[in-house]
Amino acid sequence: MLLASGLKFAMNGLQAVIGQRAMTDMRRELYNHILRLPLSFFRKNQPGTVVTSLVNELSTAGNFVGMAIAVPLSNILTLVAFAVYLIWLNPLLGIVTLSIYPIAIFIVPLAQRGANKANKQRVVVSQEMASQITESMIGIQEIHAHGSFRIEERRYNTLIERLLKIRIVWTLYRYAVKVINNLFVGMGPVLVFVLGGYLMMQGKIELGSIVAFLSAQEKLYDPWKELIEFYQVYQDASIRYKKIMHIFDKESEFLLEYDKTGPIPEIGGKIEVKNLSLTTTDGIKLLDQINLTVENGEHVALVGFSGSGKSTLAGCISQLYTYTGGDVLMDGHSVADLSKEEIVRNIGYISQSPFIFTGTVNENLLYAHEALVSYPATRETVVEPSLDDKIVVLQQAGLFVDILRFGLNSRNDRDQNPDLEKILLRVRQNFQENYGRELAEYVEFYREDNYLYHSSVAENLIFGTPQLDEFGIDKLSDNKAFLGFLDSCNLLLPLIETGAELLKQTVDILGNVPREDIFFEQTPIQAATYGDHFELAEKTAEISTSHLSRDERNKLLAIALRFIPSQHKIIVLQPLLEKLILNGRRGFRKWCTDNAPDAVSFYTDTRYLGSQSILNNIFFGSLTTDSPTVDDRVNQCIIHLLIEEDLLERITDIGMNFHVGNMGDKLSGGQQQKLAIARVLLKHPKVLVMDEATSALDNKSQSRIQKIVEQWKGTCTVISVIHRLDMLPSFDKVAVLKAGKIIELGNPKELISNKGALYELIHGKSH
Ligand SMILES: Nc1ncnc2c1ncn2[C@@H]1O[C@H](COP(=O)(O)OP(=O)(O)OP(=O)(O)O)[C@@H](O)[C@H]1O
Ligand SMILES: [Mg+2]
Repeated sequence: MLLASGLKFAMNGLQAVIGQRAMTDMRRELYNHILRLPLSFFRKNQPGTVVTSLVNELSTAGNFVGMAIAVPLSNILTLVAFAVYLIWLNPLLGIVTLSIYPIAIFIVPLAQRGANKANKQRVVVSQEMASQITESMIGIQEIHAHGSFRIEERRYNTLIERLLKIRIVWTLYRYAVKVINNLFVGMGPVLVFVLGGYLMMQGKIELGSIVAFLSAQEKLYDPWKELIEFYQVYQDASIRYKKIMHIFDKESEFLLEYDKTGPIPEIGGKIEVKNLSLTTTDGIKLLDQINLTVENGEHVALVGFSGSGKSTLAGCISQLYTYTGGDVLMDGHSVADLSKEEIVRNIGYISQSPFIFTGTVNENLLYAHEALVSYPATRETVVEPSLDDKIVVLQQAGLFVDILRFGLNSRNDRDQNPDLEKILLRVRQNFQENYGRELAEYVEFYREDNYLYHSSVAENLIFGTPQLDEFGIDKLSDNKAFLGFLDSCNLLLPLIETGAELLKQTVDILGNVPREDIFFEQTPIQAATYGDHFELAEKTAEISTSHLSRDERNKLLAIALRFIPSQHKIIVLQPLLEKLILNGRRGFRKWCTDNAPDAVSFYTDTRYLGSQSILNNIFFGSLTTDSPTVDDRVNQCIIHLLIEEDLLERITDIGMNFHVGNMGDKLSGGQQQKLAIARVLLKHPKVLVMDEATSALDNKSQSRIQKIVEQWKGTCTVISVIHRLDMLPSFDKVAVLKAGKIIELGNPKELISNKGALYELIHGKSH
């Protein structure tokens, strides 16, 4: 018994391990295969199809592989053993009962055929459904922008209803297979009864033998049932597998690695496009007899109307599209024959709509470089970019200041930069010493002994960043512990009185004005809650605050806690109250150590605040105005101090750890494009193919990058699709495309003076 159980466990374990292993291998291989498929494949098949195939459909195939090892062999052996035993017990009875099984083998597949058909449909509709979900997720912003929820729901509902029907049919067929099988197998004992009964009457067999025969026959059921189940799983798995493999049954169009002997040869940057054509499978000519020679280091612009084939041409040169006629030669080698390794070593391609990967700025910046490193032969030839290299390309792409700002807005990781905090404290001190006077009017520095007139009473008391929710600035008036503290340092009553005074003045001055925020700027009472306060105002005018209910007193307290003297000028902060609050600030700090040690991270003149950003630590105060010029000036001062302390690079390095969000959605469109440019520049390609690489940038940034690229004339070949025709003068050559053909090619100045197609493109048809 013990042995049998152990064996069974081992068998099942083995089955699971082999199945899972097989599935993992299949998943890995299929994924690798899919990544290398021609880009045209992804235009036809939606991401969802690929996702379900990899994640769901393959799992049955994997389970099946596991079963295939253990199930059939042991079951067939058991079946044969019992069949022999039955025939030995009674040859006639044995042969008759066993004859049922061949019939079942014939009938069962007929029913299975229906299940298979439904299963094929199920795979297709499941993939459609996954595609629909994926598309909605990717296009979610567009859906919200149009409020088109019902359209998407409708599309999805149609699919799931179809899937439901197919699944029901599939399940019914599967049951049918089981029912038919049971029917046949169930006939076994009946036959034994009938035939055995007859033989017994003839006196040819004894009752005991029939009973023995029946119980032996019963032993056939389990292995047979398992075999049928195995058969069903096999059918399901093979259908799923075939359906998936059929979709992905395409070959990669390029060689991955340089596979000739010897080191990878250096390829020059000369590009020759010869009679290049690209015709789609539907017979549409996207490119037609293109001829274009770009010398090493030459800069060529591709221009033309939307849809004229500029991106397609740029893609053919970068081995992204497979051309159908002619050739593109890079330093004499056909681009179609070069390995991906040779292409990415030499060509830097920046797409019209760049893709940023989920991760940090740094990971994205290193992406193209890391890709090079993943080729063993190339790895030896590329140098790891230093921080300086990265900063140079960030500056070239115009992203440096953005990344610096990310750095300033992040918290310092104490473990990584243990020495930084001390230096930053020095910067804080220098900021106050060097610029404190100049900025005095605009900045209120945090000092432990100074009252902050531009902050609320609550902020003055807390004097730090709340770490617990219930100590949030807006929550304090409801926080019982905090109320207890206020009471203990004799602040509760004066604050409630202040609240009452604020309320009285507000009602006196504002009376029945419309509830609009603009009227309420000078009072801590918000327009929206003004109405609720009327009754309370009347009550406080008649009775002393000590006779108010607890709720009413809390309301008054809340008003007082929001009071900002510089802003709410309807009353004046009394010196006595100011002193009390400053005392309260010190008292609160002590109170917290005993009562709520984790409630607040306190501001301290001489301490670095780990919970605050680097910028806040340097600035250590609040702006008293929201004028952008002051903001700029403050930034300027801070950057100046950072340069003095040689911190600019370090902070930028911290900024590079900024997480760009899901596919870069925490970056602006321009920042994404700049990052895409920077990551290509970091690998110093010989040929730079830019497909409107700067289209999302403002004019100034666009021109800046253009000027930098211009400096690489003679060293880096540039093929650039441009829309802004004022950039033309910086190119050696321009090719004008129209409907897949180059209709004009030459020096931009000459072409414009010839008043041909380029001239028309610039000035419009009317000229
Ligand atoms: N895979 C494809 N199958 C069929 N047509 C395609 C395919 N790819 C692009 N096209 C078509 O080829 C033409 C050229 O497209 P391409 O993207 O090269 O234009 P473009 O000049 O870069 O335009 P834009 O300035 O708008 O970026 C377009 O008419 C487009 O519809
Ligand atoms: Mg384009």
